[in-house]
Amino acid sequence: MAGTTGTTGAGGATGAADGRERPIVIVGASLGGAKAAEALREAGYRGGIVLVGEEHERPYERPPLSKGYLLGKESREKIYVHPPQWYAEHDVTLRLGTAVAAIDPAGHTITLADDGRVEYAKLLLTTGSVPRRLPVPGADQDGVLYLRQVEDSDRIKAALRPGARIAVIGAGWIGLEVAAAARTAGAEVTVLEAMELPLLRVLGREVAQVFADLHRDHGVDLRFGVQVSELTGTDGTVSGVRLGDGTEVAADAVVIGIGISPATGLAEAAGLEVDNGIKTDRQLRTSDPDVYAAGDVANAFHPLFARHIRVEHWANALNQPQTAARAMLGQPDAVYDRVPYFFTDAEWTPRHPNEPVASRDKLSMEYLGYVEPDGYDRVVFRGDVKANEFVAFWLSGGRVLAGMNMNIWDVTDPIRELIVSKRVVDADRLADPNVPLGEV
Ligand SMILES: Cc1cc2nc3c(=O)[nH]c(=O)nc-3n(C[C@H](O)[C@H](O)[C@H](O)COP(=O)(O)OP(=O)(O)OC[C@H]3O[C@@H](n4cnc5c(N)ncnc54)[C@H](O)[C@@H]3O)c2cc1C
Ligand SMILES: NC(=O)c1ccc[n+]([C@@H]2O[C@H](COP(=O)([O-])OP(=O)(O)OC[C@H]3O[C@@H](n4cnc5c(N)ncnc54)[C@H](O)[C@@H]3O)[C@@H](O)[C@H]2O)c1
Repeated sequence: MAGTTGTTGAGGATGAADGRERPIVIVGASLGGAKAAEALREAGYRGGIVLVGEEHERPYERPPLSKGYLLGKESREKIYVHPPQWYAEHDVTLRLGTAVAAIDPAGHTITLADDGRVEYAKLLLTTGSVPRRLPVPGADQDGVLYLRQVEDSDRIKAALRPGARIAVIGAGWIGLEVAAAARTAGAEVTVLEAMELPLLRVLGREVAQVFADLHRDHGVDLRFGVQVSELTGTDGTVSGVRLGDGTEVAADAVVIGIGISPATGLAEAAGLEVDNGIKTDRQLRTSDPDVYAAGDVANAFHPLFARHIRVEHWANALNQPQTAARAMLGQPDAVYDRVPYFFTDAEWTPRHPNEPVASRDKLSMEYLGYVEPDGYDRVVFRGDVKANEFVAFWLSGGRVLAGMNMNIWDVTDPIRELIVSKRVVDADRLADPNVPLGEV
């Protein structure tokens, strides 16, 4: 786009120098950005909305990329946030394949990578996050794969052939979900993790062990406490992973899931306050009163925890934009105080053909709450851990900070209530499945 854009606005939009109303501009056309556009319209905003995204696909959701879509069980059409016509029908100007290069908060203008400029009344940053790169020799070879975008999922899908040797670096969410999909696809999988257990920072030792056992039971060669020193290869194609102790793990493809970094570059360059993400208040307003942030990139003040937290999960990118949209429209009661929530799913092939999938071969999990790695003093299990049907609670001083239900359903409401009420509970009653959670 050449020149400067302003579109007709109402309900919060302010006029540009030439008298036209400036739009609300959203940078980052993924789940967070698309949900923000939807929320603005639902809140009755009739002014201009410009949604700018670097990717060429219209906004889509990422969870299927490591699950159903990766396995070919879920169609491409299912991943999108809205049907293609939704944007025109809701008068949302969608600018795909367009990177935003700079923000000028004083001039209320963003500059696009092609030098075009767009003025804004309010700006929402939903720039998300980017995978951390593995800083070792050989990491730029063919067959070294990351997973963030739909094209990445397509590349990994092509590598998950029966009998293929897949090395996964990092036993976090990406690593474990890809490992499960790879096993289902019939590949041989080795997972290489730097810490002594998977998901250790999020789940702690007690529950991390459950995940380790589950994946080992399903044929994954899990190796902990390893240091990856090099990715080996021939003629520019990866052939294995060399570890610090000299061991080499042969691989036809290497999938790397070693965490993400919030995409804060634009915000930092614009002088916004950035500290583990873009810092916002409880209304998701950044250090500039006309700029907001939501989703993976936002380190938002959370009233329940009385501190800033940054949540890298789907539900946060789904729900925070509603608050940001209402706050941008000047609604003072727009405060983001939802209890953080996330889920994961995996399903392995039943051990006996024609048998239904048993709980040992299935991982359907929901997690509510927020716990720092050293922030709890006790884990209470309720149910049958060996059968993989249980709820785990993380407690501090007798109060429930988080709860995770594994292959058990319809318990998120009472778990949320336990967390929000902050009341001291009796751990024996919490562990007893005969005591309804609402009566603990
Ligand atoms: C494979 C995978 C599986 C996942 N599964 C789960 C799950 O099962 N459960 C769960 O709770 N969470 C899951 N997540 C996490 C969840 O998908 C993220 O939390 C969510 O995508 C965050 O959404 P977002 O809109 O904040 O950011 P993102 O999805 O990262 O989107 C940000 C967008 O902004 C664009 N952008 C960035 N900078 C610019 C710029 N300068 N100009 C223009 N555009 C820009 C990017 O290209 C991108 O399209 C998964 C993530 C991945 C990658
Ligand atoms: N179900 C879900 O909620 C879900 C699913 C997929 C992805 N995601 C999100 O996607 C993002 C990326 O996921 P991820 O799995 O990459 O990150 P993660 O932070 O969940 O896990 C990264 C893992 O890599 C390990 N690691 C780091 N450096 C390493 C190294 N050099 N060698 C070996 N191991 C190393 C860490 O110890 C950690 O266990 C996260 O924001 C995550 O929340 C969420």
